[in-house]
Amino acid sequence: MSIEFCGLQLAHPIINGSGTFDAIAARRVFGEQLLEDFPFAAYVSKTITLEPRAGNPPPRLWETPAGLINSIGLPNKGLELTGGAERQPAIPLITNVMGATAEELSRLVEACDARAEIAAVELNVSCPNVKTGLDIGADPRQLEAVVRTVRGRTRKPLIVKLTPNTADVSACGLAAEQGGADAVSLINTLRATALAPRGRFAGAGGADGAGAQRDRWLGGGTGGLSGPAIRAVALAQVAAVAARVAIPVVGMGGVQSAAHAQELLDVGATLVAVGTESFRDPAAGARIAQGLR
Ligand SMILES: Cc1cc2nc3c(=O)[nH]c(=O)nc-3n(C[C@H](O)[C@H](O)[C@H](O)COP(=O)(O)O)c2cc1C
Repeated sequence: MSIEFCGLQLAHPIINGSGTFDAIAARRVFGEQLLEDFPFAAYVSKTITLEPRAGNPPPRLWETPAGLINSIGLPNKGLELTGGAERQPAIPLITNVMGATAEELSRLVEACDARAEIAAVELNVSCPNVKTGLDIGADPRQLEAVVRTVRGRTRKPLIVKLTPNTADVSACGLAAEQGGADAVSLINTLRATALAPRGRFAGAGGADGAGAQRDRWLGGGTGGLSGPAIRAVALAQVAAVAARVAIPVVGMGGVQSAAHAQELLDVGATLVAVGTESFRDPAAGARIAQGLR
C-alpha cells in the first residue's frame, strides 16, 4: 500500500483535505494515541495567509441534502504567528497557503521553504485576484504565470489546488503543470449559497443578485459546497485533469468510503483526500485506508 508521491514516501494513499481535520481538537478527543495512529498518510494544514484573518461572520455552515456549504472565510493567525506544534505525528506535513497576488504567494512559499518540518507546499488558488476579482486559479494564463513565479521560491514539492469554479478545469491543470507544479489537487468546494429560512434569523444581505429581497443565511453571503453532493463532479473533474497532465493528481470531493476513494484512483488520482466525511467520522481516513487494503 505504501506509495511514492513527489519524492515523499507515504504509508497509503489517503490524506486529509485542507481545513477539514483539526489535529489539535482531534488530539483532545483521541489523546496521544492520535500521534501514533494518525488517520492520514500525510497531514495537510488549513490555509495560511500572509496576514491574520478573522474569517467570515456567522452563520458559517448550512447543511444541504448530501452536502455542506461552508463560509468559514479562512480564519488563521497569519504567517508570522503560525508556529510549529511541539510534537507532531511522524508523517509528512503539507502546508496550504493562499495569497491574492504572486508576490504574497511567493513570500508564503519562501517561508515554507525555510521550515524544515514542512515536506511540501499546497497553493490554494481559489482566491480572487485583487485587480480582476477573478479567482487566480480560474484563468489558465494567470494561473501559469503565478505558479511559474512561485515555483522559483522553493525546491520542495509544489502542489496546486485547483478551483472547480472554472470553465475548463483540465486547462487549468495543464497550466499549473506548465508553470512548474509537481502535482495538482482537486476539487475545492463549489460556489454555493443558501437563503435564510423565512421569518427566521437573517444572515448577510443578499445584495448580489438572486435572493436580493431575502437575506442570505451565511454570514459571508456565499460559501463552498462539499460532501457527497459533489462526488460526481469531483469524479468528472479528476478524470479530466488526470487525462491531461503527466504530474500526479490528488483527488477529493465527497469521499466517504474506500469504494469512493477507489473510483478516484481508477480515473487516475495518485492520492485521495478525505474532507467533509471527517466531521462525521474523525477516523474516516483510517477506515478508508483500511478498506482499500
Ligand atoms: C469546513 C471546511 C473548511 C475548508 N477549508 C479549506 C481551506 O482552508 N483550504 C482549502 O484549500 N480547502 C478547504 N476546504 C476544502 C476541502 O479541503 C476540500 O477540497 C473540499 O471540501 C472537497 O472535499 P470533501 O467533499 O471531501 O469535503 C474546506 C472544506 C470544508 C468543508
